[in-house]
Amino acid sequence: MNGLNIKQLLDEIIAQAMQQAGIEHPIAQIRQSQKLEFGHYQANGIMAAAKKNGYPPRVLAQKVTDILGDHAEFSFEIAGPGFINIRLKAAFIEQNIAQFSTTNSTSDGKQKTVVIDYSAPNLAKEMHIGHLRSTVIGDTAARVLESCNHKVVRANHVGDWGAQFGSLLAYLDQITVVGEEISSKLTDLEKFYQSASKLFRGDKEFAATARQYVVKLQSNDPQCYYLWEKFIGVSLDHCQSVYDKLNISLTIADVKAESAYNEDLPVIVKILQDKTLLTESDGAQCVFLDEFKGKNERPLPAIVRKSDGGYPYLATDLAATRHRSEIINADEVLYVVGASQQLHLRQVFAVARAAGFIGPEQIFRHLPFGLILKADGKPFKTRDGADVKLIDVLNEATDRALKLIKEKNSSMTEQEQLKVAEVVGIGAIKYAELSKNRTTDYIFDWDTMLSFEGNTAPYLQYAYTRIRSLFRKSSTDPSRLTNPISLQEDQEILLALRVLQLIEAIEAYLEDYQANILCNYLYELARSFMSFYEHCPILTESHQIKASRLQLANVTAQTLHSGLALLGIQTVERM
Ligand code: ARG
Repeated sequence: MNGLNIKQLLDEIIAQAMQQAGIEHPIAQIRQSQKLEFGHYQANGIMAAAKKNGYPPRVLAQKVTDILGDHAEFSFEIAGPGFINIRLKAAFIEQNIAQFSTTNSTSDGKQKTVVIDYSAPNLAKEMHIGHLRSTVIGDTAARVLESCNHKVVRANHVGDWGAQFGSLLAYLDQITVVGEEISSKLTDLEKFYQSASKLFRGDKEFAATARQYVVKLQSNDPQCYYLWEKFIGVSLDHCQSVYDKLNISLTIADVKAESAYNEDLPVIVKILQDKTLLTESDGAQCVFLDEFKGKNERPLPAIVRKSDGGYPYLATDLAATRHRSEIINADEVLYVVGASQQLHLRQVFAVARAAGFIGPEQIFRHLPFGLILKADGKPFKTRDGADVKLIDVLNEATDRALKLIKEKNSSMTEQEQLKVAEVVGIGAIKYAELSKNRTTDYIFDWDTMLSFEGNTAPYLQYAYTRIRSLFRKSSTDPSRLTNPISLQEDQEILLALRVLQLIEAIEAYLEDYQANILCNYLYELARSFMSFYEHCPILTESHQIKASRLQLANVTAQTLHSGLALLGIQTVERM
């Protein structure tokens, strides 16, 4: 352990005391307590242990607290039917806050290689609102794991292959004159896509040409391949501009497209065949595994080669598992993909395991997420039922934030206002996403996410600016503060404790990659700061108290800043 994990420390202390009290396999079950009158933490495991060992719970609780006695760092108190309430003594917090730094607040343990498959839009179209979740959730996982010193491989498994490219390429070919710059035809990808699919649906001759283009593309016809490369290039540039605007850490180097696995596909099928895993069904090559049953208990096939000889989505994913396992040597692979693809991924993992593409120690894990809905609970679409472009949503966020900033603070220059609006608008969207439970649907609501009150990015960013302005007002350079922090008031003790709980929040997040745990942590931290700020005067105090409180404010600012950075959210100096 690098930083201090208070919960874990208490777990060990209480478990040890339970053992001394005669409990064989003690589990302390330490929880952070939500209400301060219950102390800072609570041990909930006493009752279960007492029952198992035939003790009345309060008797065991008494034994345990007697053993712990008058502890130097914590005070213990029996509560309710057999809980132990735990309070951290100020001296313990003071000592640890002195050593605290946001750069060491990570668990060390063994360094893992973790592949994160996220964002992965289909390049035939523009990115739409539906891509927000995978992109933001995956990016957070990448940032947090990296901050814990793991090796992260970002894998943007974009869809750049398949039948849908037939009509796009046929249409592109049709509208470009020889020698003309192709990208000029692709300034609006969405419109281009719509025109091509309209033609495909309405014009039989065009549809036949489009099908020929699929075959041509698959057989590496030079002209067709050239058009395809151009098209993919423009589409990837578009994605990159969305990532940049959204402050997503993906780069073009992280793209490992579906087409990158083309040459592996026959190899995959051959291996499955050699392992006698394949069965032919209606001309298609399939793997039937007992664990997959469809309606009426009918066996459900995992199709790896279609009857027309083409390879489906699943085959590419099998090739990707092999690459991630054998070439990248991943300890863990996280798939940040919508809940609707659950069966697909279960099949991928099961077939890959049966074929030996994945080693027994390697963890392949689906992190599903729900839908983004409109206020009326309906799917997020435009009035005519089309997908809402992600770039439009991002621009709207910035516009709305700019309006709010202008209302709030007219003394900033136009340029500064714009910068702040970007940070606040984009932060609001990302935080609204990350502060929800990952697995359920959520309602996209501009007013709530951009509010300066409540569990929102603007509230946290604002708390940060309050601290920064404190330093401007006192003309103190925070890096020159070296005095110890001394904690007198309840509000200071609680704020310092919140800061120390960062590592606990990070570790709780890593259990199931639920970013709302990190968001709630940051929200509690900001609230604790606000109440400290209200109750504890700073600049008007004597030198020593002032220096201590400034120090505490500074470590809070650093924690807010690095906590938000884990979510890919920026801060500003004033707003
Ligand atoms: N491109 C896919 C889609 O838009 C998502 C890919 C997810 N990753 C994967 N390895 N299948 O649905």
